[in-house]
Amino acid sequence: MTPAAAKPTSAEAATSAPAATPPATAPPPAANPTTVGPAPGPRLLEGGPIAATIRASVAEDVADFKRRFGFTPTLAVVLVGRDAPSAVYLQQILRTCARVGIEGRLVEIPGRVSAAALRRQIGHLNADPLVSGIIVQMPLPKRIPLSTVIDTIDPAKDVDGIHPFNAGLMTLGYEGFLPATAQAAVEILKRSGIPLEGRRAVVVGRSNVVGKPAAILLMREHATVTVCHSRTADLARHTREAEILVVAAGHPGLVTGAMLSPGVVVVDVGINVVPAGKGAPADNGAQADAAGGTRLVGDVDFASARDVVAAITPVPGGVGPVTNALLLTHLLRAARQQQRRSPAPLRRIG
Ligand SMILES: NC(=O)c1ccc[n+]([C@@H]2O[C@H](COP(=O)([O-])OP(=O)(O)OC[C@H]3O[C@@H](n4cnc5c(N)ncnc54)[C@H](OP(=O)(O)O)[C@@H]3O)[C@@H](O)[C@H]2O)c1
Repeated sequence: MTPAAAKPTSAEAATSAPAATPPATAPPPAANPTTVGPAPGPRLLEGGPIAATIRASVAEDVADFKRRFGFTPTLAVVLVGRDAPSAVYLQQILRTCARVGIEGRLVEIPGRVSAAALRRQIGHLNADPLVSGIIVQMPLPKRIPLSTVIDTIDPAKDVDGIHPFNAGLMTLGYEGFLPATAQAAVEILKRSGIPLEGRRAVVVGRSNVVGKPAAILLMREHATVTVCHSRTADLARHTREAEILVVAAGHPGLVTGAMLSPGVVVVDVGINVVPAGKGAPADNGAQADAAGGTRLVGDVDFASARDVVAAITPVPGGVGPVTNALLLTHLLRAARQQQRRSPAPLRRIG
């Protein structure tokens, strides 16, 4: 397979649209002097409006695709075992699919599955012409090596960019399927009008799905990038250098206000479930799950960071919705590319 130089869909064009909002460095609107209330916080880089714009374009592309090819593209969402947070996340993706007219197919596989059987299941999805894209929810049960999925998934259907082929394309600057979360982190900055070129960016986390690709994508935008990880000596020394900080470590409150320089723009990728009483205050958009007594917080301690940063993504409501929306742009591109490889329109049976 060669790198596909596909014409961008309208959704993809939407993802690189110029900033619709003023840069984070712009002064906040003047407060009404007669109003008494809490001190103004930092600019919140909300993912919701960006995701809505992307979804609207995807919906147009889906309608166009159905007219041209006569079937609805399907995203297969594979869940191995019963992991409650994963199940919640997958339900969100399936809902997003439904909103734009994409078929979301949840493929639930028992946690006791063998690696060979999981490989076979993914092979069936690879071979299914109605399935345009496949994502597999992580983490897998400990017994199953990650390579079971990564090595098996067809790169042409690898819409979350986990296959080495797509990782290679990204690293070498070709168009491929990007890991959607890392792409979302950078897309939020671009679409919020945050200048990246020539700026000092620090990424906390070096996983293959988030930290590493985020660093590569920031370099593509001509930022000067430092990557930190669990063996980094004196993390705060690095985070204080950042003009742009992307945090993807999976540790609630890892980065505090004392570790930041004034005016930094922060993308908090972390999603952590903590007891409802702990973590960031509600004004970052964090929601308590009344039933479970838990809440979602990021890796950045919002309470201490809010007075230091110029702008920050809320958790939840920042990176997450944009990730899902971008995933669907990938799905549409995959569907179109697959039609170009086999131009006969497919007919749905049943
Ligand atoms: N918003 C979304 O759509 C979305 C999607 C995916 C993931 N996430 C969230 O993003 C976070 C990261 O996910 P992931 O899959 O990248 O996690 P991961 O695979 O566990 O990687 C975590 C990274 O953080 C580094 N790290 C851990 N503790 C650290 C510390 N004390 N100081 C500095 N670096 C540290 C690790 O370093 P080592 O490499 O040295 O171990 C590793 O590179 C999680 O909270 C996850 O839930 C959000």
